[in-house]
Amino acid sequence: DRGEYPHYMLKEIYEQPETLANAMRGRLEADNATAHFGGLNLSAQQLRQVDRVIMTACGTSYHAAMVGEYLLEELARVPVEVEYASEFRYRNPPLDRSSVVLALTQSGETADTLAALRESKRMGHTTLAICNAVGSSIAREADGGVYLHAGPEIGVASTKAFTSQVCVLTMLALYLGRTRHLSSTQGQRIIDDLHALPETVRKTLACHDHVKRVAEKYAHAKNVLYLGRQYLYPVALEGALKLKEISYIHAEGYPAAEMKHGPIALVDESTPSVFLVPRGNVFDKVMSNMQEIKARGGPVIAVAGAGDREVAALADDVIPIPDVPEYLQPIVTAIPLQLLAYEIALLCGCDVDKPRNLAKSVTVE
Ligand code: M6R
Repeated sequence: DRGEYPHYMLKEIYEQPETLANAMRGRLEADNATAHFGGLNLSAQQLRQVDRVIMTACGTSYHAAMVGEYLLEELARVPVEVEYASEFRYRNPPLDRSSVVLALTQSGETADTLAALRESKRMGHTTLAICNAVGSSIAREADGGVYLHAGPEIGVASTKAFTSQVCVLTMLALYLGRTRHLSSTQGQRIIDDLHALPETVRKTLACHDHVKRVAEKYAHAKNVLYLGRQYLYPVALEGALKLKEISYIHAEGYPAAEMKHGPIALVDESTPSVFLVPRGNVFDKVMSNMQEIKARGGPVIAVAGAGDREVAALADDVIPIPDVPEYLQPIVTAIPLQLLAYEIALLCGCDVDKPRNLAKSVTVE
């Protein structure tokens, strides 16, 4: 039931403070400054021996996996590889015994992801799934896993599943990190940040009015670029996917610094770039990438910390978000991009919940 919302997609975007709280419920352990999961079916000793994680997924879930790569490497120092399930299933990658294959999927029924999981099992690997749909094929067939508890996602464009996947991956990184080098003080800080996250996301949703104004200004664009670096590079890809699938406007996500290697040739007055530029390690670098776009006459929309004057002085439009530590920025920056795609699709007269040519779960190869 959509309740007061005109579309499932909007309802699901607005549910995120609750769905994130549900993803974390009962899983954060303040005493040991770690996280735990009921269904991983791996002991702490087994997990300690994992020396490589292969993540496989499609679409939005693939983008969540890419964020997971940064999270697991940064917080847990575990090497990660991410691969499209449709590619992974036909490859014959040399994996050693201590690699774990982790499938990410909202529906648990995506044919390519299921096939990648089955192929991994056949080769004798331990398989895990991060999944939303309880009792789905992938949830049943994996050796262990973690449910998102996000509730049904009806809109074809995945929104709340993405943020919950990233949240679960953050907790997994905390858990793995605490079996390795992460100190209890660092673990406790992550737990505190995670506890504050639902409220932070509620505050983030207040950017909706800004997003509407930006949407009106740019809904006529034929091409839109989404740019971010590090943790926010996958979010740029995700923002572009959201816009493409529901508004049929061509959009591309890039790591901001790659622009100068070719794609910057696309930039002109009619091609807006959405920059993800909250404060963090690469802030100055992203600002200079933004300069490069401005210098070529491209309009810049910046998703940035509320009240960041340096960004406001350079960007044409700013969508303000709350300040959060870098590893939580993927969740917080994804929200304005979901809203932006939604508002632009509405202005274009598109059916946001059921975009053309697409199904909610892709059960064919
Ligand atoms: O159910 P899954 O997470 O396995 O689905 C994967 C993709 O088909 C899905 O994320 C798709 O890309 C969405 N429509 C994106 O919004």
